[in-house]
Amino acid sequence: MSDHDVRAELAAHLRFFAQAGVDGLSRDPAWRMRPADATAEPAAAGEDPPGARATVEHADSAETLELVREDLGACTRCKLHRLGRTQIVYGVGNPRAELMFIGEAPGHDEDIQGIPFVGRAGQLLTKIIEAIDLAREDVYIANVIKCRPPENRNPEPDEVGSCEPFLFRQVQVVRPRVIVALGTFAAQTLLRTNDPISRLRGKVFQFGDARLIPTFHPAYLLRSPDRKREVWEDMKKVRALLRGEDADGGR
Ligand code: URA
Repeated sequence: MSDHDVRAELAAHLRFFAQAGVDGLSRDPAWRMRPADATAEPAAAGEDPPGARATVEHADSAETLELVREDLGACTRCKLHRLGRTQIVYGVGNPRAELMFIGEAPGHDEDIQGIPFVGRAGQLLTKIIEAIDLAREDVYIANVIKCRPPENRNPEPDEVGSCEPFLFRQVQVVRPRVIVALGTFAAQTLLRTNDPISRLRGKVFQFGDARLIPTFHPAYLLRSPDRKREVWEDMKKVRALLRGEDADGGR
């Protein structure tokens, strides 16, 4: 790396932390680069856990996000419609985005506004997006589940079963090159695995035609800000893939 590259990399690194609200340095060893982590890609790009290779069919050319939303309608397919949801929270952003973020389910703020990731976790997600020089409007954001589960409990299997076909159709229409799965639930659902996010993150998976990068959920980062460094590592992979480089920044 040239001096110039190192300076640019360092500036981007510091900008990421500043935007993510980190205003000091920690001596906690978790913040230190371990040489083994720094050099070794934990898994070859495209490695899948068993059953993870999702087949995402190409969208019928007549399919649009509006049609998928129409089919969803005033959905009553699962019990969430009578468990206190205010409205369906569908998806937001650029319908031709190269980058798509997929979260778990709407929380209180999203349920009120009808837009994914607008609460505190959403504000952090916006900063994470901006840290790789994109704007929220450049990407597409959706959740596995479109209705708020009561008390923000984990979505249940029947709810996922009813809702995920709509997410898959959203993915088919947008056809992102890179998908970021935010948190355990989205990563496990998309990759058809029970592996915890701690095992999944750091790797790059194939999801249909897209590369899929699991990372920690922004709500978890609000509780555990010391994990932001790992998310920054994941976001650098995302940026490299969008630039047509491999996940480590090589060509
Ligand atoms: N958490 C999610 O997973 N999705 C949202 O839309 C908001 C918070």
